Amino acid sequence: MIVTIDGPAGAGKSSIARQVADRLGFEFLDTGAMYRAVTLGAIRAQIEFSDVDALVAFAGTADLKWKGCRISLNGVDVTEEIRTPTVTGAIRYLADLPDVRRQLTLQQRRIAAGRSIVTEGRDQGTDVFPDADCKIFLTASPHERALRRHQQLADAGRHMAIEDVIAAQDRRDAEDRCRPVGALRPADDAVTLDTDGMSPDEVLDRTLQIIESAVQRD
Ligand code: DC
Repeated sequence: MIVTIDGPAGAGKSSIARQVADRLGFEFLDTGAMYRAVTLGAIRAQIEFSDVDALVAFAGTADLKWKGCRISLNGVDVTEEIRTPTVTGAIRYLADLPDVRRQLTLQQRRIAAGRSIVTEGRDQGTDVFPDADCKIFLTASPHERALRRHQQLADAGRHMAIEDVIAAQDRRDAEDRCRPVGALRPADDAVTLDTDGMSPDEVLDRTLQIIESAVQRD
């Protein structure tokens, strides 16, 4: 069984997808971490972002492995390093390339084969798993997402003005929605869950209900 959870940055996909997977005893796949890891690898290999062939070749040979919630690239654990602003700012150079997306799509399908999995990202319900059993589009207003992000940064001891958080979020939203392949959008058969004003527990309960109804429908 495959459950896809797509949505914009800051909608809380990772945390919900992880909890849902735990509750259902499913595997969990964070596909954003895969895009982050190949971006980090390309930076470390000093590949020019204008060198499309080299980026595609790198993505094709990148060995991404999960151990629980930790991700390794070519045998090296990169779980923390993939979250830096430098990596976040450079992901689009790879994520915009259809051939890089094709490589990661193949890897995502390989990981999911024969498993029950909750997979989260931008294109999971649209391009990667068009036949998924349940598709959820998790979203929240830009204002609420920015407030949550601002709080997360503050909790981690990093202060960023709310205006700067909003500007960075707007930029990422535009990039994610406008890429030529794998753009962020709800699948036609996805259930959209707008989490504004909902507590994390309410979001979890509602998500589990949506999955339960999808299972009953099948
Ligand atoms: O979910 P995240 O913020 O860690 O994802 C980082 C970036 O990776 C996101 O801005 C766009 C890209 N991404 C993608 O293009 N397709 C996915 N399925 C997941 C992430």
